[in-house]
Amino acid sequence: MFKLIRIFGNLYRKDNSYMTVVKALCTTKIVYLQDCTSNNDIKNFIIENTEIVNDHNLTPEIRLRLLTPNCRFWHARPELWPFSDPFWAIYWPGGQALTRYLLSNPGVSQGKTMLDLGSGCGASAIAAKFCGAAHVVANDIDPVAAIATQLNCELNGLDPLFCEKENLIGSEPDGYDLILLGDMFYEEALADSIHSWLNRCIQTHGTQVLIGDPGRAHFEGHGIRRFLRQEAQFELPEAVREQNYGLTCSTVWRYLPEL
Ligand SMILES: C[S@@+](CC[C@H](N)C(=O)[O-])C[C@H]1O[C@@H](n2cnc3c(N)ncnc32)[C@H](O)[C@@H]1O
Repeated sequence: MFKLIRIFGNLYRKDNSYMTVVKALCTTKIVYLQDCTSNNDIKNFIIENTEIVNDHNLTPEIRLRLLTPNCRFWHARPELWPFSDPFWAIYWPGGQALTRYLLSNPGVSQGKTMLDLGSGCGASAIAAKFCGAAHVVANDIDPVAAIATQLNCELNGLDPLFCEKENLIGSEPDGYDLILLGDMFYEEALADSIHSWLNRCIQTHGTQVLIGDPGRAHFEGHGIRRFLRQEAQFELPEAVREQNYGLTCSTVWRYLPEL
């Protein structure tokens, strides 16, 4: 699993632009933001420091505010970023495949109560809503992700989605028809806890589960892998490949455990 910190680090080394970035940031919002973190400030920060994109990924139907090479923080040293790692500012290959699958198969979401666990920028949740889901919860433990998701809903002409910021993994499962997981198998402990919790959700409520993953090591080597049926596979666009250290495709799996 790559870390954004590595992306920033690599770009910084490549560009050798440290002094330029420091000068730029010292004179702008960064100092102000460290003391001032109301939702409105965060919203304005996201608007100012992301780019609206709908190309170079698998779902041109959805517009997202993302961190791109045209954004100043893309080139900055990671410690200058005022929040925790901006996972919500990246559209991960696992999430892209899952979102593509939902948009191409609207019947999967229609009328369902759905949870997008680890929703990041909110793309899969937005796709579910586009496709007629009855109720969609976007869940991410990073509170900044919730604000980014609401901005992305607005961008796509949707009413705000319900964003849950609590860690639901391990909690008493709610009655979701379908749980979505885009690129969530990037750490062993997280993968293990997700696996156990999904089993409880399925046992308690008969919940269906879809997983998008580009073949990350913690996914391919995990016990859950034996109980997955492939639903779809997508070749990743060139730009996504370049930013993801050689990953070439991303797959959507349905989890069918023998409980
Ligand atoms: C790799 S990103 C994937 C984001 C999105 N699903 C996508 O594919 O673009 C993982 C996301 O999961 C969130 N996350 C990590 N642990 C979580 C947990 N226990 N509950 C909810 N979200 C979590 C992170 O904050 C991050 O936004």
